[in-house]
Amino acid sequence: MNRSPHALELERVTLELAGRTILRDVSFSIEPGEFVGVLGPNGAGKTTLMRAILGLVPTAGGSLRVGGTPVARGNASIGYMPQIRSALSGRRVRGYDFVAMAADGHRWGLPHASAATRHEVDRVLELVGAAQLARRPLSELSGGERQRLLLAQCLLGGPKLLLLDEPLISLDPNHQRGVVELVRRVQRELGITVLFSAHELNPLLNALDRVLYLGNGVAALGTVDEVITKPVLSRLYGSPIDVMRVNGRIFVMSGDVEVEKHDHEHEDEDGNGHSHGGGHHHGHGHAHPHDSGHSHDV
Ligand SMILES: Nc1ncnc2c1ncn2[C@@H]1O[C@H](COP(=O)(O)OP(=O)(O)OP(=O)(O)O)[C@@H](O)[C@H]1O
Ligand SMILES: [Mg+2]
Repeated sequence: MNRSPHALELERVTLELAGRTILRDVSFSIEPGEFVGVLGPNGAGKTTLMRAILGLVPTAGGSLRVGGTPVARGNASIGYMPQIRSALSGRRVRGYDFVAMAADGHRWGLPHASAATRHEVDRVLELVGAAQLARRPLSELSGGERQRLLLAQCLLGGPKLLLLDEPLISLDPNHQRGVVELVRRVQRELGITVLFSAHELNPLLNALDRVLYLGNGVAALGTVDEVITKPVLSRLYGSPIDVMRVNGRIFVMSGDVEVEKHDHEHEDEDGNGHSHGGGHHHGHGHAHPHDSGHSHDV
């Protein structure tokens, strides 16, 4: 009775979009304070799952609870970093004001921010070590630095669960490591639960408690050793998969192709890549090598 509720609990959940089943009869639970890496091929349903947790995609069946409570839109205990982060790189707005806009119900212009808002913005900037960075305009920050401010935004209001959708997209390995370490540190400091989706397992290996791997409408949740195996992944990919371990790194292979790697390599630096808006997913981004960064649409 007095057991603390799961941070997240899915019981026989089915998610459908436009008549297609994305997840079918999926059950698992995640405990408070866990860092869970969410993996799976393009279109597996990582984003859809996060949106369902936020109450933005209705469940077609089953029950979905956050902190013991059925999902509802506008749940203040969840912080969300969407996968599509368009147009940030072109904006002259100062980092501080960018974070403050989210704190203040998107009211523009900091002169109107209340003392409480400023205090909250200072708090989250401090948490992610971006107090200095935030003095500069977004357009003058690196992708990794902007990511830091996006994380600060997610932490406004003190959420218990963070949903971070592909925070590593388009960052170089150094910045990837920095973002993972930052999220891990903040997560431990605050004792919050994190779902962190990614296309590659390796950058997350040192941070993860468990992996949630989606594919083929189903999900596998467990430790890396439990989930990143030939039989489990072959079931999730619906084709024979090999798992190779080299120097502490793990490679998920289909034949001689590394399956995880190729998915999102060419998304542009804001993460508004080509696999969204109409569901045209393609595994290899090389059809659009140089159109990144200039046509900010949203
Ligand atoms: N609004 C929508 N209407 C209909 N189908 C959608 C919609 N959004 C996504 N889909 C489809 O649902 C499936 C799951 O998409 P989702 O974005 O959740 O996958 P994902 O695992 O996040 O993929 P990625 O790795 O590309 O981000 C895809 O086949 C996609 O085409
Ligand atoms: Mg996605």
